[in-house]
Amino acid sequence: MKTIIKKINEFEFINEELAMAAEILKQGGLVAFPTETVYGLGANALDKEAARKIYAAKGRPSDNPLIIHIADMKSLTELVSVVPTVVEKLADKFWPGPLTMILPKSDLVPFATTGGLDTVAIRMPSNRIALELIRQSGLYLAAPSANTSGKPSPTIAEHVEVDLDQKVDMIIDGGPVGIGLESTIIDLTGDIPIILRPGYVTKAMLEEVIGEVRIDAAITNTNRDMNIVAKAPGMKYKHYAPKAEMTIFEGDMDLVIDEINARTQINERDNLKIGIIATDETKDRYNYGMVRSIGSRLDSEVIAKRLYALLREFDQLEADFIYSESFTKDNLGQAIMNRLLKAAGYNVIKVSKGSKEN
Ligand code: TXA
Ligand code: MG
Repeated sequence: MKTIIKKINEFEFINEELAMAAEILKQGGLVAFPTETVYGLGANALDKEAARKIYAAKGRPSDNPLIIHIADMKSLTELVSVVPTVVEKLADKFWPGPLTMILPKSDLVPFATTGGLDTVAIRMPSNRIALELIRQSGLYLAAPSANTSGKPSPTIAEHVEVDLDQKVDMIIDGGPVGIGLESTIIDLTGDIPIILRPGYVTKAMLEEVIGEVRIDAAITNTNRDMNIVAKAPGMKYKHYAPKAEMTIFEGDMDLVIDEINARTQINERDNLKIGIIATDETKDRYNYGMVRSIGSRLDSEVIAKRLYALLREFDQLEADFIYSESFTKDNLGQAIMNRLLKAAGYNVIKVSKGSKEN
């Protein structure tokens, strides 16, 4: 299949090209498009065959449900069987935007889209190309992140092209995304709302609007107690992973830098290629390896935006190992550390004076 790639400016639509994309979707095809979080791979959410094509293009297990993207509130009432009052409060505050709500599905939604679940994930994105594409197609768009399953999510159209060229009908290049990490997922099917995936919309922001919110134990379980199973099916897979084996170093910054320098010195002697995820504050203190600053330690928004691109860069540079500093877990930091830990397969070394082992 030849993939059509078109550049579209979010603020000056070339409608002919969006119309072409909408037409492909109506015919049951696949179109990758920008959202404010990461690029999505869209298809008609009510068409089982289109859902099957998404799974095939991504190489994704078919029990991992898709998020349905909508452009207005009326669509929500068609896709779900109940609308609890918290939904309206959340939608008022956070939609369009990077929040996905899990609700009981209506009969309209095929099990092919929900991975066999009775619940459905819904999001109204704020990116104008995404919204306009949904409107022009007249469809609800099922859209997972537009990466090959297991790879970091795409934050620019080139990432989509690397993974899905020849596998999808069209890629809309709307430039770099704004946030860089996938949406916050909140499960509203129980008594107390539960965050299944942390994102730009934080627990504190949600609690301000709807009161008590919990976080799925699988997210806070960074020591990987195997008895705790993630409630979002997609969160259980090894995910967001670069090809290189990755390790996160935690502890006093000076000790972390010493430890990474000591290891990379040995690694270089062994002719191994090492990628180092450093920060503006620390990047000049590393003596070996391919050192990249992800931004200032104080600016979580920049760290979120650059994380996936950096993991992909180290893949391209054929790093054998990636060593990363660790970051604050506050606010957006919770989402950053969640993705970083998954990329590293929860491989964390706590560095402290005297003992340098995990
Ligand atoms: O920001 C985003 O959410 C991006 C953009 C494209 O919108 N999409 C995205 O989709 O990240 P995806 O498919 O890569 O991740 C969807 C996650 C998976 O972990 C999946 O298991 C979970 O949402 N999910 C979907 N439906 C669910 C449901 N009914 N119950 C629990 N988890 C669900
Ligand atoms: Mg994904």
